[in-house]
Amino acid sequence: MYNGEKLAPKQFVEDAVKEIKAQVGNDIVILGLSGGVDSTVTALLIDKAIGHNLQCIFVDHGLLRKNEFETVLKNYESLGLNVKGVRAADRFFAACKGITDPELKRKAIGKTFVDVFADEARAVKDAKWLAQGTIWPDIAESKSDKGTIKSHHNVGGLPEDLHFGLVEPLKYLYKYEVREVGKELGLDRKFLERHPFPGPGLGVRCLEELTPERIHILQEADAIFIDNLYEAGLYDKIWQAGAILLPIRSTGVTDGRRTYENVIALRAVNSVDAVTAEVIDLPFEFLQKVAKEIIAQVDGVNRVVFDISPKPPATIEWE
Ligand code: XMP
Repeated sequence: MYNGEKLAPKQFVEDAVKEIKAQVGNDIVILGLSGGVDSTVTALLIDKAIGHNLQCIFVDHGLLRKNEFETVLKNYESLGLNVKGVRAADRFFAACKGITDPELKRKAIGKTFVDVFADEARAVKDAKWLAQGTIWPDIAESKSDKGTIKSHHNVGGLPEDLHFGLVEPLKYLYKYEVREVGKELGLDRKFLERHPFPGPGLGVRCLEELTPERIHILQEADAIFIDNLYEAGLYDKIWQAGAILLPIRSTGVTDGRRTYENVIALRAVNSVDAVTAEVIDLPFEFLQKVAKEIIAQVDGVNRVVFDISPKPPATIEWE
């Protein structure tokens, strides 16, 4: 067991593989992949220990970034993981229909995630264990007043007929240590350095009601922002960045005609642990370029603003 001293990634992997083998033997383990670093590193560790006795489930809730489901699924397959991609966007949009309150929306997304995941888990014959990419800050946060974060990924949320033992090989690690372990397991640097992304995905960045049309607008705007950050060499200097679709419209003028369309906010912050965050001083010319491209290329957007609020008091996510 990792004892809290400076992490030696190679040794950690060897020990974790042994521990996982001893814990689960020849049993079937299931794991929900999110596309993020923690669940991916968890999957690779367990795969190393028990191979295809690990059944991964990757749910598309329709709230991922542009092309993310297809790209990440292919990446998982090329890593040799035993993974099932489940397209469930319709169920999520149906569950969120008419909901504008952020907390109710999070609950609806969380409950639907559990329902979809439970259906898939029941279909895996003889599954005995549930693996999770829990890391130390998740545990520390759930002991504090931020207990709701990631609640929808917790085993406690699964229906009573599903009794799984828990496998959490990363639970004593910090994020940067998870990245070191991921590197040791051969994960691509670009993947390891991806910004954190919330479980409810763009659902908490598409303010008020979620519809496929509004999510599509947000995905397009977000992709332009993120692509520009990569191009300008800024992506790796930032803890987290993304676009937000506001629940208001504003007037504009295009080709001499009045428009009344959506507003996109851009957010880019630096942080150490996400408990506090500072706004990044992005170059003004960069912001102007991104704004122009979004307005020109994304139908239904005629205005872009930059969020300059630190955390606290503003949270990183708007909902
Ligand atoms: P806030 O908005 O509280 O976010 O400043 C702090 C960090 O947590 C992420 N976040 C989440 N991560 N499930 C997650 O896995 C969630 O429901 C969730 N909500 C916020 C957020 O992206 C930021 O990195």
